[in-house]
Amino acid sequence: MEQHYDTLAAWDHAHLWHPFTQMQGFAREELLIITRGEGVFLFDHRGNRYLDGVASLWANVHGHRRPELDRAIQDQLSKVAHCTMLGLANIPALNLAHDLVEIAPPGLTRVFLSDNGSTAVEVALKMAYQYWQLRGEKQRKRFVKLKDAYHGDTLGAVSVGGIDLFHAIFKDLLFPTLEAPNTYCYRCPEQDRCHQQCLTALEAVVESHHDELAAIIIEPVIQGAAGMIAQPSGYVRRIRELADHYGCLLIADEVATGFGRTGKMFACEHDEIAPDILCLAKGITGGYLPLAATLATDDIYRMFLGEFDEFRAFFHGHTYTGNPLAAAAAVASLALFRSERLIDQLQEKIAYLAARLADWVEHPHIGDIRQRGFMVGIELVRDKASKVPFPVKQRQGHRVILAARKLGAILRPLGDVIVLMPPLCISLTELQELLDITLAAINQAGSA
Ligand SMILES: Cc1ncc(COP(=O)(O)O)c(C=O)c1O
Repeated sequence: MEQHYDTLAAWDHAHLWHPFTQMQGFAREELLIITRGEGVFLFDHRGNRYLDGVASLWANVHGHRRPELDRAIQDQLSKVAHCTMLGLANIPALNLAHDLVEIAPPGLTRVFLSDNGSTAVEVALKMAYQYWQLRGEKQRKRFVKLKDAYHGDTLGAVSVGGIDLFHAIFKDLLFPTLEAPNTYCYRCPEQDRCHQQCLTALEAVVESHHDELAAIIIEPVIQGAAGMIAQPSGYVRRIRELADHYGCLLIADEVATGFGRTGKMFACEHDEIAPDILCLAKGITGGYLPLAATLATDDIYRMFLGEFDEFRAFFHGHTYTGNPLAAAAAVASLALFRSERLIDQLQEKIAYLAARLADWVEHPHIGDIRQRGFMVGIELVRDKASKVPFPVKQRQGHRVILAARKLGAILRPLGDVIVLMPPLCISLTELQELLDITLAAINQAGSA
């Protein structure tokens, strides 16, 4: 095994280029090779067991090797693994479209399938843009985004992104957008005098550009990659009202928040609103296979109808759009949501998580804890009183996750924000273990 491991590690260093990773430092760390999963655990090449504390990048819902999902994929595999959706349909994709419309916020009746979160967003942006072109309001070309927004890594998604560290270098390749402040209350200079100035600023941007706006795009309820920036109750509703008032579309990117993550099936439900376009991915297949969906209203869909030679069709599609294996996993995942009453079952775990995290607020290196359902961000600071962060070079978040790894949990930070986002199926005992490990890792990482 050791020999085998050394060979594989050498191949990693020689050939693999890992995403969002400074490869120079990475090659100096011990490479963890995951060989199998079981429930909320992953196992490495040595047989060590780790709690999957970030649900394999925020995607896993029902655990690894979940028999119902395994079986659904195997059954479909015995029929056909892949066939195109360009001009054809397949049974899992049809079932999935039907099931998604049943559970989606009201009015979203059309399902456009693709294969990852970024493509779900690309589809949404192009759909919104073409909608206004077809409708004859050709000046409606611009998108409003929030500061620190993250909608994926393809260029359209990056254009509506707001994280300078990831996005600034590509700025010459991007289309121009309008940006409004986000709800980063912890570092807001107006925190003690909050009159929702961020919302007022957003309203001002929308008001002054309303006649040229195609859509406002948001991650509703909590911005994930921004560092788990939670929004106050009613915030999403206010944005819905704003979009309605000025007649532009609202795109809700629920790639991260969808499928139970915030404690409801979709985050938009917290404010009882429906977007015009909804982007879904990650948890859609229970975290098994790449698949995404962009849902739209009938009003949007109908705008694309016309005679063949009017060329109003939506000219977008991917080779693996509606892949039957992935769609079969998604259908099986949604069936589990129903049969296990997963959202109901989740509430006790969310409350437990909140209660345990509340005990950490006095910790000298925890500046802020932000939680919406099963999405948690713990912001580490060097000095609690002044909120001074750790020096970037220290990579405090990374130190914590390396310590957590030794203690038996896999985490992935966002800078110095420690993210907790376990599979929704995690038991209370496992959740307790994850929290114990996380706190111990924060302590072990120290402050020097
Ligand atoms: C809100 C949001 N949108 C889009 C994406 C992009 O998804 P993918 O990584 O599947 O392209 C992500 C990924 O983290 C996300 O959090």
